[in-house]
Amino acid sequence: MSYYSSDVIDDVRSGNDIVDVVGQYVQLKRSGSTYVGLCPFHNEKTPSFHVNPEGQFYHCFGCGVGGNVIGFVMEHDNLSFGDAIKYLADRINYTLPEVSFTKDAQKKKELKQKLYDIHKTAARFYYECLMSDEGKNAVEYLDKREVSIGARRKFGLGYSPIAKGALYNRLKEAGFDDEAIIKSGLAYKKDTTAFYDKFFNRLMFPIIDVYGNIIGFGGRTLGDGQPKYLNSPETDIFNKSKNLYNLNLAKQARKRELILVEGYMDAIAIYQAGFKNVVASLGTAFNENHSRVMRSYADSVILLFDSDEAGVKAVLRAIPVLRNAGLRVKVLQVHDAKDPDEFIKKFGAAAFGELLNTAKSHILFRAEQIQKKYDLNILEERIDFSKEIAKLMTEADNSIEADAYLREVSRITQIDLSAIQNEINRLNNGVTDVKPVRNGRNTNKKGIDGAREDIINIIMSNRRYYEIISRYLKPEELLEPFYIKILNIIYSLYSDDKAVNTQSILDCIETPEEQSKFTAIFVKRIKFDENEVIKAINDILRNIKNAYYDKLISDNYASPDIAKLIDDKRKANNLYISLSDG
Ligand code: UTP
Ligand code: MN
Repeated sequence: MSYYSSDVIDDVRSGNDIVDVVGQYVQLKRSGSTYVGLCPFHNEKTPSFHVNPEGQFYHCFGCGVGGNVIGFVMEHDNLSFGDAIKYLADRINYTLPEVSFTKDAQKKKELKQKLYDIHKTAARFYYECLMSDEGKNAVEYLDKREVSIGARRKFGLGYSPIAKGALYNRLKEAGFDDEAIIKSGLAYKKDTTAFYDKFFNRLMFPIIDVYGNIIGFGGRTLGDGQPKYLNSPETDIFNKSKNLYNLNLAKQARKRELILVEGYMDAIAIYQAGFKNVVASLGTAFNENHSRVMRSYADSVILLFDSDEAGVKAVLRAIPVLRNAGLRVKVLQVHDAKDPDEFIKKFGAAAFGELLNTAKSHILFRAEQIQKKYDLNILEERIDFSKEIAKLMTEADNSIEADAYLREVSRITQIDLSAIQNEINRLNNGVTDVKPVRNGRNTNKKGIDGAREDIINIIMSNRRYYEIISRYLKPEELLEPFYIKILNIIYSLYSDDKAVNTQSILDCIETPEEQSKFTAIFVKRIKFDENEVIKAINDILRNIKNAYYDKLISDNYASPDIAKLIDDKRKANNLYISLSDG
């Protein structure tokens, strides 16, 4: 996955003290041997975010995230592993070796850089055109739509002129080759000789990624021409389903809440009204990638789409996508205006701010939409309605919330609260464990997973325990792929005679998700007395092996090996290891 050697990664990691790096984003206070602060990954008022200087890892006891300094940068700035390494190397003026790039990777990197440069040149060109005589109509249009001078500059708005191949010519003057220009999607060859620009006579909106690179454009007609908005095609630098308009500025607001709107102009109007945490999807359907990107900057999202039928449909589609990424979702609808832009124009920024406060939970919004399908004056329809509502309530975050919604639903529909409640109880009897866990991270597991986590911690704590336990416990006996992976890492570190600690283990784990899972295990470690540890080890091994053999036995129920498996399980139960073994 990454093209840097482990020595390089080690240099970069150890050169960046986690307390310093996290301290750039989070105000940390020393508390005993660790530092604590407010978690940047979820909303909280009392600090549960810990940074451990000795172990060089962080962990939030509130939301469960954790990892090493590389994982922190990846999660916080939504960077790939390679980009996080680059950022951290840069931070300590460490020169990364270039040699490890393959030829192909090097070529791809150069092309991407060229495409960024082309887009930068294009944006400058469009801006100049807007400021020149040619741009008169576009300026007039911006005046009419009340886009402030500051916003025009902040969003780098421009104008693509009418003259055939105007941008193409400028790009050639700047020294770019035809192949790269075509790959940028900004110009194309129509016949064998002539080059045409993709955009002409349009108001231009640069699309900027989170690192500040211009990666594409949206262009709006100044009149009624079709299509209303023309967007750059996907290219080597522009992936529509991973980028959101204005995310580069919205993330600077550091609000952990994002307002999601449909259009470029809505985003600009809202930003200009003083609400900077607004993003828009880029003329593509909202998808999982978008929501994953949003999750790294926010805990909750306000959906604010057009008030027409298409807008409602888009909201209903976006809700589960956002919820699956672990985001809280609220829905807002403008009234007496077709979209947020028009609302702000009509009623002003202050009214918009008040409107934001009326955003309602996605559950109530969906309840209203469900209600529209039924005639509640008819008994049968009321019953069907209650059934749908009951199902919806299983998505409430907790029973207090569900109860509050139910009262609201009962008030709106005038259906007896207890009637809906009965329906829910009936439904819940068939469904167990419907409560969603925030971000899918369970913070309170015991039982067999607890045993697996304990043994991992015990083995980590002392080479001597490794030497004994590894003779009796194979990683695959932990059954769960993640635990197996961790135990394999620990075993191979020991057998390579390397240090075994949070740092060296985290170095072997590349994704922030898995880093979080690992630190969550480590922070739950229990310190055993020398004289009780051996009993604990035996108890834990028995637990783990029982689960392992039970699984094998049930998987091989019809097989001739079954007798042997049952015997193996019996032997495992009689196993007793002591510290003097070996
Ligand atoms: P709207 O038509 O609601 O856009 O489409 P808008 O921003 O309100 O437009 P105006 O300027 O205020 O009239 C919402 C979004 O859908 C995409 C664009 O991203 C637009 O901002 N879209 C719309 C297209 O990509 N192409 C189109 O032809 C229309
Ligand atoms: Mn509009």
